[in-house]
Amino acid sequence: MLAESRRTIIIDTDPGQDDAIAILFALGAKDKLDVRAITTVAGNVPLDLTSRNALIVLGWANRTDIPVYAGCSRPLVCDLVTAEDFHGKTGLDGVALDEPTVGLADGHAVDFMIRTLGRAAEKSVTVCLIGPMTNLAVALTKEPTIVRGIKEVVMMAGAFHTRGNVTPVAEFNVYVDPHAAAVVFGSGAPIVVLPLDTTHKALSTKARVTRLSELGNRAGKLIGAILNSHAQREIEKFGAQGGPLHDPCVIAYLLAPWLFSGRNANVVIETQGEFTTGETVVDWYGTTGRPANAFWINDVDADSFYALLTETVRRLP
Ligand code: RIB
Ligand code: CA
Repeated sequence: MLAESRRTIIIDTDPGQDDAIAILFALGAKDKLDVRAITTVAGNVPLDLTSRNALIVLGWANRTDIPVYAGCSRPLVCDLVTAEDFHGKTGLDGVALDEPTVGLADGHAVDFMIRTLGRAAEKSVTVCLIGPMTNLAVALTKEPTIVRGIKEVVMMAGAFHTRGNVTPVAEFNVYVDPHAAAVVFGSGAPIVVLPLDTTHKALSTKARVTRLSELGNRAGKLIGAILNSHAQREIEKFGAQGGPLHDPCVIAYLLAPWLFSGRNANVVIETQGEFTTGETVVDWYGTTGRPANAFWINDVDADSFYALLTETVRRLP
């Protein structure tokens, strides 16, 4: 049987507790995913902290060979909104942080994206968006032809069947930079969306967190500590049985798409709404006649998702 070729990915991120788990998840699957670089953006916490956190997380996995390019420090149009109330002042509440052992790569994340996607073979690079989409939106605006190099944009974004988590209709990544989300959804790139509709079905219950914490490796301990802190705030706010595990759903989709289900639909972004800015307007029943521009996922086999996450994290230091 031919060895399955590894998928080349860029992770664009605002670490962020769940981002950190997503990055570790991807690094644990190095037989399947070739993480070309991490690009950082302002979101959960300001850019200097999301960039520092990305370097720290790579150190946890002994993967400081992977370059981290800092990107946009603010949204395209809106003022920056951050989420320290969820992720803590550092952005990685729940664990003690040592200073990163390596520095950032030279150059801006947008220029890295333009260079890498512009030179890539057609449809060869998967861009994982797990924060506000500012970096990719700027890259696509500066150099629209880079869309050619994109295999898929797989993003944690939006809400349709589920209410928003920042306003009644808006999910954080889209709410922070709705104009950037509109650029990405209008780019023609193949898009797969893991919205709150799905992530709210992937709850970090006590049993699931315990299995990760008791793996016996550093990564499992760190993820357990992060989840215990992360879940607390989500349970308090949403009263669920655990915290929804948002960003790792993107990595799980890359590794095991059969765990997820959804449908192709047209998605547009509200950028002018007095009460609805940041809403992902999903034409789930095809009533508008607008062509589908995304695969919108609204279900996940949560037990298998956590089993995959746990088995993959087991391979880390
Ligand atoms: O709404 C959840 C998303 O917002 C996740 O990516 C989380 O890290 C925050 O960025
Ligand atoms: Ca994130």
